Amino acid sequence: MEDIQNILSWYMAAGIETICGDEPYNALQKNETPENAEQIINTPKSAENIGKVTIRPATTLLAQENSAACANARELCAKAQTLEDLKAMMENFNGCSLRFSANSTVFGSGNPQAEIMLIGEAPGADEDRVGEPFVGRSGQLLNKMLAAISIRREDCYITNVLPWRPPGNRTPTDAETAVCLPFLHRQIELIKPKIIFLFGASAANAVLDKAENISDMRGHLMEYTLPDGSIIPTLAGYHPAFLLRSQAQKAKAWSDMMRLQRKLAEM
Ligand code: URA
Repeated sequence: MEDIQNILSWYMAAGIETICGDEPYNALQKNETPENAEQIINTPKSAENIGKVTIRPATTLLAQENSAACANARELCAKAQTLEDLKAMMENFNGCSLRFSANSTVFGSGNPQAEIMLIGEAPGADEDRVGEPFVGRSGQLLNKMLAAISIRREDCYITNVLPWRPPGNRTPTDAETAVCLPFLHRQIELIKPKIIFLFGASAANAVLDKAENISDMRGHLMEYTLPDGSIIPTLAGYHPAFLLRSQAQKAKAWSDMMRLQRKLAEM
């Protein structure tokens, strides 16, 4: 019994949270690559594909192709003229292996004309299930943080650096972040908010292309530069998931929210 518990805990830690699928799977059968593997890999999820077995390329192969995938992502994003275009492109993009383990592509949500853009790291289990950013416990705390400075969540645009949940909520790798960044850059360009707030070091480092601790980045006004050279004032602060574990940092989070409110009032 204890052995089974240990095995299940190990699977949970590795991000495997579902132990039965819709299709029976014969683990003893020799694992041969089907002739149409290429086509299966490149077939986007659509109503008629849901439920069919999809073979995903080896992570190593995807990593080797990462720079090609990044170039492809940048090329695609440049063509997206609307958020709807960009969302459709992201849903059909196969250049990031996380897509194959996630249940949903979690695109940004909220007001497309928002003055405030809030950016987190990646969807968690709840967001992956629902298909919306910040809907779980972190999202509930985020709503309270916004309410504390009289900002309504529905007036903001909320998104993540990565649209796919990393298994077990692990930190995304640099390669995964790099390939997803063009989609985020284009989202920022299309929304063109007055101010950006970044939650956690992972999002702050990815968006601002820095390698700094969040405790050093918070409290300073930083800048995000759009491709046309215009600047969006940017603040960063602790991630709500971190605040749920570290009550002691809530006072700093409160002062970060006040800074956001002051900055908005000045604009
Ligand atoms: N954490 C994030 O960074 N984003 C979410 O959407 C949820 C949790």
